[in-house]
Amino acid sequence: MKVTLLPGDGIGVEIIDAAVEVLEAVATKFGFTLEFDKQLIGGCAIDAVGVPLPEATVSSAKAADAVLLGAVGGPKWDNVAPEIRPEKGLLGIRKALGLYCNLRPMTVSNFTAHLSPLRPEQVAGADLLIVRELTGGIYFGKHDEAHLNAEGVEEASDIELYTVPEIKRIARYAFAAARQRRGKVTSVDKANVLASSRLWRRVVTQLQAEEYPDVELNHFYVDNCAMQLVLNPKQFDVILTNNIFGDILSDEASTLAGSIGLLPSASLGDGTGMYEPIHGSAPDIAGQGIANPTATILSAAMMLRYSLKQTEAASAVEEAVNAVMEQGYRTKDLYSEGLQLVSTSEMAALIAAELLK
Ligand code: IPM
Ligand code: MN
Repeated sequence: MKVTLLPGDGIGVEIIDAAVEVLEAVATKFGFTLEFDKQLIGGCAIDAVGVPLPEATVSSAKAADAVLLGAVGGPKWDNVAPEIRPEKGLLGIRKALGLYCNLRPMTVSNFTAHLSPLRPEQVAGADLLIVRELTGGIYFGKHDEAHLNAEGVEEASDIELYTVPEIKRIARYAFAAARQRRGKVTSVDKANVLASSRLWRRVVTQLQAEEYPDVELNHFYVDNCAMQLVLNPKQFDVILTNNIFGDILSDEASTLAGSIGLLPSASLGDGTGMYEPIHGSAPDIAGQGIANPTATILSAAMMLRYSLKQTEAASAVEEAVNAVMEQGYRTKDLYSEGLQLVSTSEMAALIAAELLK
């Protein structure tokens, strides 16, 4: 099976190395072979070839069974032209691969509930899945960069647009996911203000009635949802939402788990899927060997499950991560007295060794 690796910028390089070590171990254990092809994306691609998403990256990704990405961006590229920002690489590959469905699971492990900004009893046991639409909405609507209007006043705008087919395909994914979980979808919009949200709500409501009557559906306005996530995160099973609301709510939800260094994600379409940690490139700690590789290793587990159809191997990776945490090993973000502090590569080696036990 072919996997395109996109380390990207900052800690991306270290965490992808860590994930590869674990993938190699799990492949040995379960008797399959992975062929890796490393390509450029983001700031490092701008430095090397002048664009954040080289053609070679897109063609490698399209030819692969899956893509594993680290992170992109950093202050070094803050002042490049908007059309070649590192983030454009990420948005470009999402679009090129048609990755309309972004899955961001958030579970609170017993090992880290005490690190949550919420009281442990409020978050322990929370288990939700954000299903974020990823190739539409305001991210991909018409962007009018800053310019002078007819009155000579400077203005800029971005358009939020959704079509019925776009809403239906992401909503179907959320309903189907809920059937495999606890059977509840919360659809999030701003239908009291936005026309695109009123269409979203109507289409989701109708789809549930016609095709998913067994799944429970409720609707929250995004402002209320942001509040409910901190008041009572355990009320959520699947959260279905658009691109920008999903971006914001998933960062909020990720803090509940105690560290953003633990949370994986999958981006799926009709072809190659892409897997990446939820966190960014953390330029402030890059190269120091202190980044937590767990989110990337768990993203690799999602890749094994969804794209490579290696369900047992996926579960084995997740269990190995848990076992190493259980043994008390922690990277710096999760470390406290009485535990054993390990580096990025030591964490990966421990997880790989656990798999080969
Ligand atoms: C994310 C990131 C990206 C997004 C950025 C880097 C373009 O924040 O994956 O959530 O906004 O989608
Ligand atoms: Mn984001």
